[in-house]
Amino acid sequence: MPLRVLGIAGSLRAGSYNRALLEAARELAPAGMEIEIFAGLREIPPYDQDVDAAGAPEPVAALKRAIAGADALLVATPEYNYSVPGVLKNAIDWASRPATTSPLYGKPTAIMGASSGISGTIRAQLALRQSFLFTNSPTMIKPEVTVPRCADKFDASGRLTDETTRALLRQLVEALPAWAARFRTA
Ligand SMILES: Cc1cc2nc3c(=O)[nH]c(=O)nc-3n(C[C@H](O)[C@H](O)[C@H](O)COP(=O)(O)O)c2cc1C
Repeated sequence: MPLRVLGIAGSLRAGSYNRALLEAARELAPAGMEIEIFAGLREIPPYDQDVDAAGAPEPVAALKRAIAGADALLVATPEYNYSVPGVLKNAIDWASRPATTSPLYGKPTAIMGASSGISGTIRAQLALRQSFLFTNSPTMIKPEVTVPRCADKFDASGRLTDETTRALLRQLVEALPAWAARFRTA
């Protein structure tokens, strides 16, 4: 059976480096790993607990189905004001309900991120890791893939060209199957 990984990029930007980082992960993934990149983030409405109680809108249901159907998540987060972009946090908030039966509950997860600053999403990744504590999504600890000064690491077509980052990303995708196996529920 292939390991099905759902990639989520926390950016709506057409030229997003974080989506490009997920594309690179797909390119570097070991045999037997399939990475699907979630395409519906833009359609997720602002979280409203009343709407949630009445029944999740279809874009949210699609997100929850995609998470439930994946063996692991791979989230690429930009850093906005030292934290996670609102669109990504909003999607996590929707996916996190009901708290103990959500598709995030127990879902093995890996995180990474690219930013234009020198810290390469260190702070955003800590914030994301904190959300995944509450959702009980076991989040891989090492390797930490942080991509500072991201514009220098990709070519004009969005291909990750920096060899150091490619090697680090390869380590991450190679470590993910064992991490997912540790927390497999079915
Ligand atoms: C609202 C906003 C806040 C930002 N805050 C940070 C920040 O705290 N740290 C940082 O390194 N870059 C910050 N940036 C720059 C982003 O790292 C940069 O735009 C990056 O390319 C976003 O990721 P993307 O290419 O996947 O869209 C910010 C950008 C925006 C639009």
